[in-house]
Amino acid sequence: MPITVKIRKGINEKSVNALEFAKLMQDSGADAITIHGRTANQYYSGTADWDIIKEIKENLSIPIIGNGDVKSPEDVQKIIEYTNCDAVLIGRGSQGNPFIFSQINDFFKNGVYDEIDDYTRIVTALKHYKKAIDIFGESTAVREMRKQLNCYLKGIKNSCSIKNAINTELSYKKVIEILSDFSKSLTLN
Ligand SMILES: Cc1cc2nc3c(=O)[nH]c(=O)nc-3n(C[C@H](O)[C@H](O)[C@H](O)COP(=O)(O)O)c2cc1C
Repeated sequence: MPITVKIRKGINEKSVNALEFAKLMQDSGADAITIHGRTANQYYSGTADWDIIKEIKENLSIPIIGNGDVKSPEDVQKIIEYTNCDAVLIGRGSQGNPFIFSQINDFFKNGVYDEIDDYTRIVTALKHYKKAIDIFGESTAVREMRKQLNCYLKGIKNSCSIKNAINTELSYKKVIEILSDFSKSLTLN
């Protein structure tokens, strides 16, 4: 079974040890390493340092997976060109935006990709929501999915009022109704 490792740059800027640690992981048999170019203390602040990913790629022979601040197909191209990494990991850029993966495939195959319309976003959010209910059960999913639904709704015109309702609603049926009604209102525009 392949074993992969995921690390940050270090604990803080004074103790950047990702290269040393990555070498140790390679020597210990890791099959690939993901590097998020931030320190632990940085959490999500500032920008991800792609230089550390580049440096690790230059010094190791196992596949290196670049991570941090990749939010579009263009960013994927940039991080690969800049660091020469073998693969890319996307975190926040995929929240409420699973479409990013097919967009990346289209971009690398054809040089272009389609923007996603609001209706498709809501219909996908509904599918995601129903799956979460099946997997986790109503009481967990209703709470856990609030953040995800907010990500799907981000940037969609007139979605503020339904966001407020979703963030307090405890009945999954009611949430589904709110989202379905909203999707219908989008088709009428
Ligand atoms: C909701 C969420 C959950 C995450 N969970 C984990 C986790 O369990 N383990 C981990 O190593 N990183 C986790 N991360 C961090 C991401 O894998 C990634 O390193 C970080 O978000 C930076 O990438 P990004 O700029 O593409 O978001 C999580 C990130 C998010 C947004």
